[in-house]
Amino acid sequence: SDQPLVLGIETSCDETGIGIVRGTTLLADAIASSVDEHARFGGVVPEVASRAHLHAMVPTIRRALDTAGVAAADVDAVAVTAGPGLAGALLVGVAAAKAYALALDKPLYGVNHLSSHVAVDLLEHGPLEEPCVALLVSGGHSSVLLVPRIGGEELTELGATVDDAAGEAYDKVARLLGLPFPGGPPIDRIAREGDRDAIAFPRGMTGAHDPAFAFSFSGLKTAVARWVEARQRAGEAVPVADVAASFQEAVVDVLTAKAVRAAREAGVGHMIIGGGVAANTRLRALAQERCDAAGIRLRVPRPGLCTDNGAMVAALGAQLVAHGATPSSLELPADSALPV
Ligand code: KG4
Ligand code: ZN
Repeated sequence: SDQPLVLGIETSCDETGIGIVRGTTLLADAIASSVDEHARFGGVVPEVASRAHLHAMVPTIRRALDTAGVAAADVDAVAVTAGPGLAGALLVGVAAAKAYALALDKPLYGVNHLSSHVAVDLLEHGPLEEPCVALLVSGGHSSVLLVPRIGGEELTELGATVDDAAGEAYDKVARLLGLPFPGGPPIDRIAREGDRDAIAFPRGMTGAHDPAFAFSFSGLKTAVARWVEARQRAGEAVPVADVAASFQEAVVDVLTAKAVRAAREAGVGHMIIGGGVAANTRLRALAQERCDAAGIRLRVPRPGLCTDNGAMVAALGAQLVAHGATPSSLELPADSALPV
């Protein structure tokens, strides 16, 4: 095949992700996660994550090559997450990518973590309709982006959270409900047994004078904490499923309303949702409902490709190769605050 074989390395947070793609075909998506080591702290501990990446890197690359049935020497390009993310964690991936690129004498491509959360959908649903609006919701980010062309021109950020990311809100609320870390999956599960209209939690950043595409989730988290504390002080049981469902509705209501409005105002008929929170079943259902009503075509990758992985990095790397982008130099820095 004349499609480029690309190895992608992702280490921005707690997953060591190694993906191998040929063009837009996914050949391997190997992951080693240190999530269990962070669980007792209720959040990712950067130093622990960096060390885990270091231990997992070479074995995970080997596993990905084995799964794909290719040799390292067959790789045409190496792509790596250059940021944003945890500085120490990113450094491990960037150092490994440079070592492989140098040893194999193949080009290196530093990619943006947020863009790759969008690009990964190519592997599942084929070429993206461009331009499109992307709702990017993860543990570290919540933003609405205008995507002119994957691997082409820069993305434009129409709005972002002014405080907590959506995933961060899930993780914090899960903690105060006594649910395990990361909090998204258990809240998603328990919320199915609750009433999402049980408690009217605030919809952040939806006032008449608030920026149209900005988000705020920290007030919501505080409102949930106050509500739960009041119940506990009164000696009453906390209806965990109702709290989870009502909290979740407050998050996904605002996310979907603003993303649909962004697509309408930008005159764009296509939307894509990416990032770990895009795995959420209620977000997926409500987004579909609202996109259908607005005549917008929605694409969301399967849950396993929404959370951090190496396939997304390889997918974006392959687009850069296809578009003839200039490779990064071997001086490529890891940039924890890399903008979109
Ligand atoms: O994209 P990701 O794997 O890592 C970052 O780049 O942050 O996102 C992780 C976040 C965590 O906050 C986790 O709680 C959330 O995604 N998450 C979910 C679900 N699965 C993962 N949130 C809501 N519902 C889910 N099913
Ligand atoms: Zn991510």
